[in-house]
Amino acid sequence: AAEDGLSAWLRYAPIPHAKHYHDKLPSAVVTLNATEGLPVYTAGEELVDGINGIFGKELSVGDDCERDSVVTVGTVAAYAKNGGCVDELPDLIEDGYHLRIDGGNVLILGQNERGALYGAFQYLARLAQGQVTDDTLTSNPEVPVRWVNQWDNMRDGGTHGSVERGYGGDSIFFWDGVVREDLTRAGQYARLLASIGLNAVVVNNVNANETILTPSNMDGLARIADAFRPYGIQLGLSLRFDSPQLLGDLDTFDPLDDDVVAWWQEKTDELYRRIPDMAGYLVKANSEGQPGPLTYNRTLAEGANLFAHALEPHGGIIMFRAFVYDHRSLDQDADWKADRANAAVDFFEGLDPDFEDNVVIQIKYGPIDFQVREPVSPLFAHLRETGSAVELQITQEYLGQQAHLVYLAPMWRELLDFDLRADGEDSTLASIVSGQRFNQKLAGYAGVVNVGHNTTWLGSHLAMSNLYAYGQLAWDSSSDPVEMLEAWTKMTFSHDQEVIDVITKLSMESWPAYEDYTGNLGVQTLTDILLGHYGPNPGSQDGNPWGQWTRADADSIGMDRTVWNGTGFAGQYPDEVYEKYENIETTPDNLLLWFHHVPYTHVLKSNKTVIQHFYDAHYRGSAVAQTFVPLWESIRGKVDEERYEHVLYRLVYQAGHSLVWRDSVTNFYLNKSGIPDEAGRVGNY
Ligand code: GCU
Repeated sequence: AAEDGLSAWLRYAPIPHAKHYHDKLPSAVVTLNATEGLPVYTAGEELVDGINGIFGKELSVGDDCERDSVVTVGTVAAYAKNGGCVDELPDLIEDGYHLRIDGGNVLILGQNERGALYGAFQYLARLAQGQVTDDTLTSNPEVPVRWVNQWDNMRDGGTHGSVERGYGGDSIFFWDGVVREDLTRAGQYARLLASIGLNAVVVNNVNANETILTPSNMDGLARIADAFRPYGIQLGLSLRFDSPQLLGDLDTFDPLDDDVVAWWQEKTDELYRRIPDMAGYLVKANSEGQPGPLTYNRTLAEGANLFAHALEPHGGIIMFRAFVYDHRSLDQDADWKADRANAAVDFFEGLDPDFEDNVVIQIKYGPIDFQVREPVSPLFAHLRETGSAVELQITQEYLGQQAHLVYLAPMWRELLDFDLRADGEDSTLASIVSGQRFNQKLAGYAGVVNVGHNTTWLGSHLAMSNLYAYGQLAWDSSSDPVEMLEAWTKMTFSHDQEVIDVITKLSMESWPAYEDYTGNLGVQTLTDILLGHYGPNPGSQDGNPWGQWTRADADSIGMDRTVWNGTGFAGQYPDEVYEKYENIETTPDNLLLWFHHVPYTHVLKSNKTVIQHFYDAHYRGSAVAQTFVPLWESIRGKVDEERYEHVLYRLVYQAGHSLVWRDSVTNFYLNKSGIPDEAGRVGNY
């Protein structure tokens, strides 16, 4: 069963009535111009393994695509060269594929090798879901940047490689300051990611260590890239801005200094000598005490361009993070207008035209930090010439750290559909990060995943639906949360309708429930923000040095982010959105306390007071979490015992912990406000 965890949705488990389909399936696989170690070759292997696993049918490996009952896979170019018999070659963009299923005759063509592999995985996903029907489709990715970020440390205080905000064990890449000898897991990870259309992994923490660039570690990185390559996954690297000083013997890391420029060029050249297909860099600068260009009074654009120039000759790109803020400049008590949420737009304002073409600004979905509910970051509406990528977090840092089930696709759906109304026109987040709204070539998605050595990858079997959904959304932002869940469940667990229904119900209720029993009305998640971002601690949400505040006192709560009386954050949005949030009447309840500071007795659109809403929501959400346990128990025997028990253990824990959440938060605000719960529950045990 450890195998089940490792192969996640790629188990290729037998489906019901498998034999029945044999004559509708190919009998042989033909790969065009396949080279071992490259994606088309891998596609051939996957097709053989998949069809054998799902149907118990063994394909022969042939070389004659004219024969009957053959699945042919290759690039469009290789197919055309072989005199392939498609009348019209499909219109594909980079990484796109064409899939034609005609009984046992199947044609899978990629614009490149990676696209061919994606097409093979798509065909296999259909088969694994029991869809053995004819079809012709052409699928192109919506965006070129479909990256994963791993926050893996090479060395963390002690000796081993931990993962920052990782809840699935140690790093699969690093150990004791160097790249692991055994990179089997890196290859298995790449396989999972390729199957959902992702194309690059940044392997080390955004809080990077300069030693990643020693010659022996660069050799190690080349081995990781080798493990990724059969799956078309490219390697990306996080860099530490002051590396020239820490690792080189320069006395500066000024991005405009000639020696610094030469140092980065040399390192970049050395990397590309080892990894010619490297994707590029990710840089966190001038954030949370990290060094950056501002240290030398250079602009963020000058900092980003330093790497852009070094990468340009190699075709690499730089993902430059917008998560820039100086927590030391924030003083809650002295300054009503102090607001960390303002930082990104403040820091990037005016720089848009200055970034080189191979720079992408990587922006967390919300202006603070992966909270259970945040408005979409206004910075997305400010970058017109420079492409942006939305940073989503699959690892559930503030969202229960995989000990709680929280299916995130519904939240991502809302964010992607949110219309920023730039220049008064339709401007959904999805249309901006696809590059379509502002006509940008480079744009897309970055997902912080943080898998670890654990055989479940993320520490929880159910949490893997988030990774699956992330890949699907990055490929096609219109993907539906329920459909993705059903497909994932079929492939991961079972085709049994009850299993599908139970997992769908649990998952779809999980984000609203979590929001209910943690932080309501946009107040933030209310986790302990000083110790690990886990568990309830509303008291830690004020007076902390990180600028994640609620401004709760005896009478009132919320951050006043209006222009007329508050921090001015609402003014960073395009007019229509600004007006909506500036005005308390038009601010939706679920973001009320994000934008406004109100008495606990303020009446919501729901006609409840803020404080009563807190009480009711906490009771409601934790009650929903109690139902997860019997729901799961109702499918005992329908999923294998080991995974059944593992999930049950987590859900029992979640049910209990949701009560801890409920009681901590409701009691905290009862004590603060002195306003009793109308239903008499809070404080009465
Ligand atoms: C959060 C997170 C950190 C991380 C940072 C970032 O603050 O807690 O661990 O380094 O975000 O995204 O850079």
